[in-house]
Amino acid sequence: MSVIDIMKACPVIPVIAIDELAHAVPLARALVEGGIRVLEVTLRTPHGLPAIRAISEAVPEAIVGVGTLTRPEEFDAALAAGAVFGVSPGLTPTLIGAARSSGLPLLPGVMTPSEVMAAREAGFRQLKLFPAVPAGGIGMLNAIAGPLPDVAFCPTGGISQATAAEFLACSNVACVGGSWLTPKAAVQAGDWDKITALARAAAGLRMSGTV
Ligand code: 3PG
Repeated sequence: MSVIDIMKACPVIPVIAIDELAHAVPLARALVEGGIRVLEVTLRTPHGLPAIRAISEAVPEAIVGVGTLTRPEEFDAALAAGAVFGVSPGLTPTLIGAARSSGLPLLPGVMTPSEVMAAREAGFRQLKLFPAVPAGGIGMLNAIAGPLPDVAFCPTGGISQATAAEFLACSNVACVGGSWLTPKAAVQAGDWDKITALARAAAGLRMSGTV
């Protein structure tokens, strides 16, 4: 699946950090049940790769990606675990090389116009604006759409259910990312109905942009 197809498959990509491996499959099932199929499982905890493997095997409807890619060796490991896309908070020449050699579709992070231009020169037209709200949020996205109209963004960082629709209305936004679909207290408590309800509300958000 291409990065743009993945971005268009769901209005919201949940950014997931697995604190206990046993949570991975029920959490993924709860999100899919609510209509959110694209899942970004981050490498912020040691359970990231095992969680990707477990979800890929047990929840075939999920489109599972790896998040927080910051080192080149993580690309092949994520592919081996079953990830079908990757997300990084930034982009470096080393990561460009790892994306090319591994073949893992990558959504790289950017925060400034120069970073957008450098990523585009490296062949990336779908970018994560990170951290979206500190970077300028909706004002930044609208300002970038003028000089750099041919890139599509997944803004992430500081977005909530209350603000997601406004982001999704930007002409250059294909989807948004965020951790609000997986609140730690609900995950710890095994409150999967709550996760499904949060996912259902997020899945009901619609893009009105043009990308
Ligand atoms: C990310 O890594 O993409 C962000 O930490 C998610 O940001 P949020 O917690 O503000 O949604």
